[in-house]
Amino acid sequence: MNKLIVFNFKMAPASFTEVKEVFHIFKRFSQKVKPNKIIIVPPYVYLAEASNIFEKECSLGAQDVFWFNRNSATGEISPKMLKSLGVEYVIVGHSERRKYFNETDEIINSKIKACLSNDLTPILCIGEKNRKEGDSSLSFRIKKILFEQLNYALRGVILENSSDLIITYEPVWAISANQPKELEDPEEIQKTISLIRFWLARRFSEKIAKNMRILYGGSVNSQNIIPFLSLKEINGVLVGRVSTNKIELTKLLKKLIK
Ligand code: PGA
Repeated sequence: MNKLIVFNFKMAPASFTEVKEVFHIFKRFSQKVKPNKIIIVPPYVYLAEASNIFEKECSLGAQDVFWFNRNSATGEISPKMLKSLGVEYVIVGHSERRKYFNETDEIINSKIKACLSNDLTPILCIGEKNRKEGDSSLSFRIKKILFEQLNYALRGVILENSSDLIITYEPVWAISANQPKELEDPEEIQKTISLIRFWLARRFSEKIAKNMRILYGGSVNSQNIIPFLSLKEINGVLVGRVSTNKIELTKLLKKLIK
């Protein structure tokens, strides 16, 4: 099983001492979980430490990026700065950034283009906010939301290879911060992922659609990671809250060892 596991630390942990403990757990397990590939995505302030600690065993991602390389953008981080620390991936369009920072589709599109032109791989997050009565992964309302998000985010984007972009389907209602009552059914996720592939084939090519990595995110933990990963259509998962919970993280990583 060769799947991609992205660990989005979000805005945690609160101290440098704690993040070093979390990195140590990844260091202990990252070779053992192969051929699965781990991408760790800590907050900016811990990226330099991660880049010192990890060699090739874990890849490094950032939670955001500014859309230009220039000096006058107080508080922001440029693609070049990330590259200089060995960052390879950037999460773009996460629902928490759409919500708290009013990130528009236009900004998301600019960030995707900035990543591509600086040789960083964007991990584009898309997903519907809620489910209404009678909605399923294939209902017209959900299709419309997902296709619109893809259309705007990838407007004018040219992809040379399927590995230039990663997509994560994250139904916002299933993210742990929202304390979901129910989890998305893995079979339903497979259907949604097939739908995203259908869109990619029409927008790019059959080949890109077939080979692009499409992940699932939303309350992935040590209990449900294996059922998610064992489905053929799901090329990996994006783990949020568990990434910095030392006990849960250890349990989850142990599950990945064959
Ligand atoms: P969660 O977060 O695993 O805590 O639900 C996923 C994410 O980063 O959105």
